[in-house]
Amino acid sequence: MSTRHWLARACKVGPALLFPLALLYACNKPAGSGSGASSSSTVGGAALFTSNCSKCHTINGSGSKRAPDLSHVGADASHTADWLAEFVKNPGKIEPGSRMPPFEGKISDSDLKSLTEYLASLK
Ligand code: HEC
Repeated sequence: MSTRHWLARACKVGPALLFPLALLYACNKPAGSGSGASSSSTVGGAALFTSNCSKCHTINGSGSKRAPDLSHVGADASHTADWLAEFVKNPGKIEPGSRMPPFEGKISDSDLKSLTEYLASLK
C-alpha cells in the first residue's frame, strides 16, 4: 500500500526526480486495459508456461531431466485442454504418486485455460 502512495506522489512531482526510468515505466502503465487479455490465448499460454512450468518442463529448448518433454503433448488425442487442466490442477488425482505439484489455487481459471489451450495445440 505505501508503495502505491509513494508512486502516486512521485508521479505528480514528475519523473525528473530520483528514478526517471522507473517512474516513466510506472506512470505509463496502461490503466484501463481490462479487455483483450482473454482472446489471444496462445501467446499468453506460452508466457504462462515459461513462468510456471519451464523450470521443470523446459519446452522449446525441449525436455529436461526433471519432467517429461511437453513440446508435443497435444499430439496425444487424450490430452485435450480439459484433460490438461485437470492434470495441472491436481496431478495426483490423475496419476497417483505423481511428483508434479498441484497448481489448484495457484493459477486462475482463465490463465489455466490459456495455458492448457496452448499446450493442447502443441502437436
Ligand atoms: C516441480 C516440477 C514441475 C513443475 C513446476 C511442473 N511440472 Fe508438470 N510434471 C512434473 C513431473 C515430475 C511430471 C512427471 C509425471 C509425474 O510424476 O506425474 C510432470 C507431468 C506433467 C504432465 C503429464 C505429461 C503426460 O504425458 O502424462 C503434464 C501435462 C504437465 N506435467 C504439465 C505441467 C504444466 C502445464 C505445468 C505448469 C503449470 C507443470 N507441469 C509444472 C513436474 C513439474
